[in-house]
Amino acid sequence: MSLAPKNILAICGSTREVSANLQIIRALEAIAGKAWKLTLYKGLTELPYFNQDVGNEQAPQSVKDFRNAIEGADGVLICTPEYVFSLPGILKNALEWTVSTTVFSDKPAALITASSSGEKAHESLVLVMKTLGVKTSEEACLHIPGVKAKLDAEGRVNSDLLNKQLQQLVDAFNKL
Ligand SMILES: Cc1cc2nc3c(=O)[nH]c(=O)nc-3n(C[C@H](O)[C@H](O)[C@H](O)COP(=O)(O)O)c2cc1C
Repeated sequence: MSLAPKNILAICGSTREVSANLQIIRALEAIAGKAWKLTLYKGLTELPYFNQDVGNEQAPQSVKDFRNAIEGADGVLICTPEYVFSLPGILKNALEWTVSTTVFSDKPAALITASSSGEKAHESLVLVMKTLGVKTSEEACLHIPGVKAKLDAEGRVNSDLLNKQLQQLVDAFNKL
């Protein structure tokens, strides 16, 4: 008996075309195979700066679309670099738009920070997402330092250890 694929919303904290984080998302998608139907959220750059004066009902369509995309997903995968020892502003801004909602409550989440170093951003990502109420586990969170050295020129993972860690993360995420 084959189970229906899980609808996974992937959010990449980097908007670079040849982003290492995007390549990690694609590697995870390949590992998960038919278990996931992955949708990459492409609207980060369209979200306005968060403004607390804007009530949920008055929120711009881009914000409503973002919230609906999270709400409609079976799980969320966030993969981000660290910028100046923190989360990239564009990702933090998007997350701020969800604070007044329950879209992340009990949502299964895999949380990855892939960067040169990335320790501080990873701590922050896990703290922020737990505060927003996601369901995650230690095995569904992964810090990948030195990410660029772990990808080849075509963007494929060239580290056996990282491949194993990504497989473990997919297994853990599927069990959340
Ligand atoms: C504005 C900026 C700030 C950065 N600050 C950090 C940092 O604090 N820590 C770190 O590990 N890497 C830092 N980096 C390097 C990024 O982590 C690295 O370029 C990463 O591969 C970017 O992810 P991407 O390939 O998915 O775009 C910074 C890069 C930029 C552009």
